[in-house]
Amino acid sequence: MYLCAMQILDGKIVAQSVKEELKQKVDLLKQEGKKTPHLAAVLIGNNGASETYVASKVKTCGEIGYESTLIRFDESVSEEELLKKIGDLNNDSTVDGILVQLPLPKHISEEKVINTIAAEKDVDGFHPSNIGKMVQGQPSYIPATPYGILLLMQHYNIQTKGKHAVVIGRSNIVGRPMSILLSQNNSTGNCTVTLCHSHTHNLKTLCLQADIIVAALGKPEFLTADMVKEGAVVIDVGITRVDDATKKKGYSIKGDVHFESVAPKCSFITPVPGGVGAMTIAALMKNTYLAATNHR
Ligand code: GUN
Repeated sequence: MYLCAMQILDGKIVAQSVKEELKQKVDLLKQEGKKTPHLAAVLIGNNGASETYVASKVKTCGEIGYESTLIRFDESVSEEELLKKIGDLNNDSTVDGILVQLPLPKHISEEKVINTIAAEKDVDGFHPSNIGKMVQGQPSYIPATPYGILLLMQHYNIQTKGKHAVVIGRSNIVGRPMSILLSQNNSTGNCTVTLCHSHTHNLKTLCLQADIIVAALGKPEFLTADMVKEGAVVIDVGITRVDDATKKKGYSIKGDVHFESVAPKCSFITPVPGGVGAMTIAALMKNTYLAATNHR
């Protein structure tokens, strides 16, 4: 049997080059006496994963030379107080980009929060106005994870035209926008897309027909070798914390792909960690730069 050479899609390296490019652009803005991009991140409660992601976003702002503000609320914050804060950030001309880390506590409406963020500062690309523009192929903020995946595939010159892409998971954050972007009539699209979810019949049969699989369902090691065609491109969006007594932290991070068995069948595959996660932050930083330069 022919086994193709498998290549790792190294999100760390590609994210680093995106960040270096942004740093140069920010240095230039500073030299020209222009104000630096400023991201405001809102974190509610003490969810361990959310804390880690937000800390990483704030740290990356510092590395690039952006300003950042972290606004923390207790888990018990009222919806009203949170919406008021978002309104203040919308009106604050020193702030270019706003993100509210998800998930939110149950008593707060995600829909209301997202709709309250000014579309021109919505660097997560979750506002209906940005989603609507994205669907129509108009310039918009593209949600960071799908955007990061496209940047990663573009870097490795992975062809999408005419390919069958299977996206597993239909979340507003990843799966659904990913399915739309891959179907668009442009250089990172032109795929035939199948969007699979918890009610999909014959998932394995569909996956076996896929040239590109994006696993974004949040089930550790869900995608196994028997579901993947020889030579496929596999993008793993999963980052689930799984109890692991052998680790100092008490958990290890698992992707949605059973890497060990799937990798040998792939032409390209993303590792976890070091794949999509790093790219998500790089893409957010690109959106923030765009917000800062559009804004002025
Ligand atoms: N939670 C998981 N992913 C994301 C993201 O990309 N943005 C925000 N704001 N919250 C998230």
